Amino acid sequence: MNLAVLGAQWGDEGKGKIVDLLTPRFSIVARYQGGHNAGHTVYVNGTKFILRLIPSGILHPHVTCVIGNGVVVDPQALFAEVDELARNGVEVDGRIAISDKAHLILPYHRDLDLLLEARRGDRKIGTTSRGIGPAYEDKIARRGIRVGDLADPVGLEATVRDNVTARNRLIQDSTMDWRPVVEQLLTDGERLRPWIRDVSVMLHQAMREGRPILFEGAQGTLLDIDHGTYPYVTSSSATIGGVCTGLGVSPRAIGAVVGVAKAYTTRVGEGPLPTELFGEQGQRLRESGQEYGSVTGRPRRCGWYDAVAVRYGVRINGLDVLALTKLDVLDGLEQIEICTAYRCGSRTLTDFPSDVGQLAACEPVYESMPGWSAPTRGIRRFEALPEAARRYIARLEEVSGVRAAIVSTGSERDDTIIRDDIMKLQDGRIAGLQD
Ligand code: IMP
Repeated sequence: MNLAVLGAQWGDEGKGKIVDLLTPRFSIVARYQGGHNAGHTVYVNGTKFILRLIPSGILHPHVTCVIGNGVVVDPQALFAEVDELARNGVEVDGRIAISDKAHLILPYHRDLDLLLEARRGDRKIGTTSRGIGPAYEDKIARRGIRVGDLADPVGLEATVRDNVTARNRLIQDSTMDWRPVVEQLLTDGERLRPWIRDVSVMLHQAMREGRPILFEGAQGTLLDIDHGTYPYVTSSSATIGGVCTGLGVSPRAIGAVVGVAKAYTTRVGEGPLPTELFGEQGQRLRESGQEYGSVTGRPRRCGWYDAVAVRYGVRINGLDVLALTKLDVLDGLEQIEICTAYRCGSRTLTDFPSDVGQLAACEPVYESMPGWSAPTRGIRRFEALPEAARRYIARLEEVSGVRAAIVSTGSERDDTIIRDDIMKLQDGRIAGLQD
């Protein structure tokens, strides 16, 4: 069975760890959207790996990693990541495939990202300034450059010349020369060449041979270009639909969907966050959860678990189960709040509002739960959790409308509870979901 693993909140849910944990059951891990704005952190035997473009399955030698057409690729960022993995003893060559239809991020996309943010002033989005939005803009405007275009120097030159000329017009006093951009791309093309594939064909072949695929999402449901808190979103389809468009597979290829959610909520960048905690409480979560962006180092905004947002993720993505992460960060809190609805003027909303202005005007409706003092860090059996922690999880499941099959209690691969009664990892496969 193929499985999709994606973010049920505003990104940074801990997808990297969950993908890494599940990978032994799969022969391919395929990323379907986003770019090096993502930062998937995986700890193995005390070594920290941050993966941005390369799927988190790369740390398992038997796995082939696929970068789909829905991803935007900055070749320099990709090479830096490959080199960093090699320095840590992880060989990538022969185990990586990049779609010929994936679009490239070029130096002028990074410049434009910064420029557009500066022009937005106090309406800025708080992007990662990696050129993600401008690269997707070019894709949609049908002037983008795809990985496969690197094999056609004449066409490449014409498109880069046009794009750089347009950029020079947009940025005052800018005289970027298109020639070095083309030269760099041709050099990059040489290094990329052995990895370039028709990814859709490759995945269908794998499915015919019965080799299971894990579809890996980046960012999260509320950052999705269509279903997120627009315009405070990223520029790609982080929700389940992105699997099909970003890899060229049918919806029938997706056997089950795991949503990853933190036991509380975080967001980095601008835009509404109804359960945000300011002052000491927010700082407490930020420090004990080490909530600083793995790409930009920015402090993440922190708040209580928002069941309205997660329920929305359940609806949009058809989540079968949750992987609940960072439970241990809540250790030692006397009281924990869960947001079960929003109050918006005189109305109580139980559905996530469609309009970002309305969301910004919402106040959370909280339900209080007692906390626990015994540490949960590193606990690997559900029964070993303090009773209050088990009650907290049970209530999150009730109000979110989905069971938590996995509970993560620390950053290491094995600091994880897998609840056999909901989902079983056995004989190299996953049972208990729609099988
Ligand atoms: P962009 O993707 O760089 O255009 O940024 C758009 C918004 O998405 C900003 O609020 C970013 O902070 C946020 N964002 C992008 N990638 C991630 C991620 O991997 N985790 C969390 N937030 C992200």
